[in-house]
Amino acid sequence: MVTTCSPPDDPGELHPALTGRFSPQAFDPRSTMTERQVDLLLDAARLAPSAGNSQPWSFIAALRDDVVHRRLMPLLAPSSTRWAADASLLVVNLAHARVADSPEWQYSEFSQYDLGQAVAHMTMQALALGLAVRQFRAFDRDAIAREFEVPTHMDVTSMSAFGVAAHDIAGSLPGSRSRRTRRDVVWVRAESPDESTAEG
Ligand SMILES: Cc1cc2nc3c(=O)[nH]c(=O)nc-3n(C[C@H](O)[C@H](O)[C@H](O)COP(=O)(O)O)c2cc1C
Repeated sequence: MVTTCSPPDDPGELHPALTGRFSPQAFDPRSTMTERQVDLLLDAARLAPSAGNSQPWSFIAALRDDVVHRRLMPLLAPSSTRWAADASLLVVNLAHARVADSPEWQYSEFSQYDLGQAVAHMTMQALALGLAVRQFRAFDRDAIAREFEVPTHMDVTSMSAFGVAAHDIAGSLPGSRSRRTRRDVVWVRAESPDESTAEG
């Protein structure tokens, strides 16, 4: 059975980037990002660890209203267009799943896993720049692959919207930030002598 709880209260021990991060449901439409900031996000992704250092990722980056953005926006689902249109930057996250022109795995079965870490790196770098991120899947994967000629050995996996949040963490949709308890996420762990630690 899965039970849920509120996000952990900040006991002052978790890193503030973790307790302060949230996925906004609205971005400030007046906020813009620079090419340099985009470079920093891409560099953060490049520094992520990956299986065998395979670095199985690529990104489509679109600053609001640039030529790539104009091609990308119509391919979003209405549910994400509502808020993603105001984000300063949209990024499509691509995982290199297979060798070009071959059914073989080039990068190992960890390519999606590795891509996720690269996106997490981008998220943390964005926080350091005072920006928020909402990842999403509500878009037309096949249409993006066609529009940007993504080869079949790469998977269009997810997207990330970056920008200045138009609300604070307390303004998140009720329930959207609930978390499984610590006990729920532990499959195996030696019994703790301290009950308060075990309860979590
Ligand atoms: C892979 C992935 C896909 C997601 N897809 C969507 C989406 O399509 N639409 C949306 O509004 N949020 C989407 N989210 C955001 C999650 O709903 C959000 O991260 C979750 O509710 C936890 O909230 P928090 O990020 O504020 O902690 C997605 C997040 C991830 C990591």
